[in-house]
Amino acid sequence: MKITILRIDTVDSTNSEAARQAQLGADEGLCVIARRQTAGRGRHGRTWISEKDAGLYFSIILRPKIEIKFLPLITLMTGVAVYDTLEECGLKPDIKWVNDILIGEKKICGILAESVETQTGLAVVVGVGINLTSQNFAADIGKTITSINAELATPADAGEIERTLTKYISYWYENLCGENGPTMICSEWKRRSSYFHGKNVRVTLANESFEGATNGLEENGALRVKIHDGTVKIVQAGDVERLRPFLGNQDLN
Ligand code: BTN
Repeated sequence: MKITILRIDTVDSTNSEAARQAQLGADEGLCVIARRQTAGRGRHGRTWISEKDAGLYFSIILRPKIEIKFLPLITLMTGVAVYDTLEECGLKPDIKWVNDILIGEKKICGILAESVETQTGLAVVVGVGINLTSQNFAADIGKTITSINAELATPADAGEIERTLTKYISYWYENLCGENGPTMICSEWKRRSSYFHGKNVRVTLANESFEGATNGLEENGALRVKIHDGTVKIVQAGDVERLRPFLGNQDLN
C-alpha cells in the first residue's frame, strides 16, 4: 500500500476529512493528519478532545478486498499496529477489546473505524488518536488516561510515531488481506491482549449489561464472554470494562 500524507493544521475530524477524500476518489493509503480537531469523535458519539499538538490525530483510508463479515477485524488489526508502534517507542501496552490501547490500565489511544460508500466501492476510514501530552487532562481524568510524555522520560516525537504507525498499519493490513489473514490477526491480537481470556468484565450494550469472563474471539473478532450459567455471549459491539476482584470491605485509610 502506498502511503500518502495529507497534513492539515485544523480540521473538524480527520475521520470526516478522510471520508470526504474517499468520496472524492482518494486511493487507499491516504492518511489525514491534523494538529488540532474541532469535532474529534470517539465511539458511540463521544467527543475526542483534540487540543493543538496534544495528540496524534490520524486517519487512513482503506479499500479492503476482504469478505464483509471480516470487516470488524480492521479495528483489531489497527490495535495490533498501534501496540507495535508504542512498543517500539519503549512502552509496554495492552489492548482492551475492542479498540482501546492501555498502558498500565490507563487509556493512551483510541481507534474508530467507519465505513464509507464511494463511487468505487466501500471504503473504511480508520482513525487513531494517540495522547502525546497530558497537559489538558482534568485532574480526575488523569487516573484513567495517560500519554506518551507521561510515560516516557524523553518527549514524544510525533513524526517518528507517525512513521512507525504507518509502517505497522501497512504491514498488518497486508497480512489481514492475505491468505488466512483473519485467523492470523486474531492470533496476533491474542498475543498482545490480556483481555483475550479469563478477564472478568462488565459488558454494556445498548439495552443490556452483563458480567462474565472473557473467552477468546470469534473468527470475525467478536468477543466471547462466558456468563455465570456457563453460556457464552458473543459481543459484536459494546463497551467492556474490567471488573476488579471484590476484596471485602476494607478500611482504605
Ligand atoms: C474511541 O476510543 O472512542 C475512539 C477515539 C478515536 C479518536 C481518533 S482521533 C483521529 C480520528 N478522528 C476522529 O474524529 N476520531 C479519530
